[in-house]
Amino acid sequence: MNRRQFLASTALSGLASACGSSAAAPRAASDPAAFRTELRVPPLLEPTVDKDGTRRFTLTMQQGRSEILAGKPVETWGINGPHLGPTIRAARGDRVRMTVTNRLDEASTVHWHGMRLPAKMDGGPHQTIEPGATWSPHWTIDQPAATSWYHPHPHGETAKHVYRGLAGMFIIDDRTTAQLPSRYGIDDVPLILQDKNLAEDGSPTGDPLKGTFGILGDHMLVNGTHAPFLNVRTERVRFRILNGSNARMYHLTFADRRAFHVVGNDAGLLPAPAQADQVSLTPGERVEVVVTFTPGEQVLLRTLSGSDDIDEGDFDLLKIVAAARLAASPRLPASLTAPAPIVVPPNAKVRRFRLNGHDAINGKEMDLSRIDEVVPADATEIWEIENTVYAHNFHIHEVAFQVLDVNGDKPHAYASGHKDTVYVPPKSTVRLAVQFGRFTDPVTPYMYHCHILRHEDSGMMGQFVIVKPGTENQVPRTIATHHHT
Ligand code: C2O
Ligand code: CU
Ligand code: CU
Repeated sequence: MNRRQFLASTALSGLASACGSSAAAPRAASDPAAFRTELRVPPLLEPTVDKDGTRRFTLTMQQGRSEILAGKPVETWGINGPHLGPTIRAARGDRVRMTVTNRLDEASTVHWHGMRLPAKMDGGPHQTIEPGATWSPHWTIDQPAATSWYHPHPHGETAKHVYRGLAGMFIIDDRTTAQLPSRYGIDDVPLILQDKNLAEDGSPTGDPLKGTFGILGDHMLVNGTHAPFLNVRTERVRFRILNGSNARMYHLTFADRRAFHVVGNDAGLLPAPAQADQVSLTPGERVEVVVTFTPGEQVLLRTLSGSDDIDEGDFDLLKIVAAARLAASPRLPASLTAPAPIVVPPNAKVRRFRLNGHDAINGKEMDLSRIDEVVPADATEIWEIENTVYAHNFHIHEVAFQVLDVNGDKPHAYASGHKDTVYVPPKSTVRLAVQFGRFTDPVTPYMYHCHILRHEDSGMMGQFVIVKPGTENQVPRTIATHHHT
């Protein structure tokens, strides 16, 4: 049975699916008993501290074996382990150095998605790490508390590398962190959402570069765990939710439609908790939510299908089980310390980007040697993304932005904060107020692209450099590349 037939049959029987196994008859997803594997929580990566105070994190990209389905060990890729990577946690003001070693058989990169840093440290397609090589970027964390992440970015291969399991979370703290639950793995829990197609032997299958969107799997994983449960012991829990999928869009809600509070978007906290009972998340986006539990209850976190092609299907993701006695949590503050709103100056530069297929932006396929845009340091600009076709999204490296409007409408309150990735619905225009950083480098570009990895890999990506204001017209528009194929 293929996925569509499977979905059709589950729809007929009126059931969503937890598993979507091809051989077995459709199972009642909503059977909470099916959620029997304890949710894996990625370990926190302990840094070593250099003499000068720099915190050094060591990451090794490697192949390994793990059981996505219990009892079926299969080949996966991971960082410091067989599947996915550890969580990096650092505070604003920290000097950090990453020691990234590639123990795979092929070249890759590690990109710090959401991080404000010099282009050479960004880990995009120009910062290739050859097999056996080590790359050591370093920078000072200087941005508001947020839930960021890291993943490979080798041009044309990102979809495959992420699908095999290379991704991890990168939490940035500042003095606002303690306004909300922040004890990692206790009341501050990462949820990395990914979908996979699994073969009979339990191994991920499917061509991430095929079809319009690539992979839309029928097995839902949270932190690499299939059909997981999580025991919670506190009244309130902050979940840091990352859509780490190749293409799937999630519309997250609880089975009992309970209200919860969104407290943060990709790049920082919201000015006040925004109540919601459903939030949408496209690939690369993050959301921080605080959920309240009552003693002894259990509830399923699920995703509902929307109207677009990249969110097809209802699936239960995680069963949350509250202990019979829950430790009291501090009340949710009425307001949070959010980063300052991004104010667009009166004659801000407007740049337009047109998405009208899946392998180009403004009609141009990604070219590693071409600089598409030159931006002066510290600028605030309006970027207008026009999508003439099916679903896409848009991610910009190095920046923080706020959504001005989507087809003229303001975004939901819960999505009005600082972000770096945004959904661009079919046949629509999204306008962004984009705040650029201060690191200049005329010959090393940052990327902007659709974060549906099939599209990114096939060329729906462009490059910009940030330069000293006034030098925009003097920088080369063609750069040397050291890209290895
Ligand atoms: Cu999450 Cu260009 O990347
Ligand atoms: Cu990025
Ligand atoms: Cu796209």
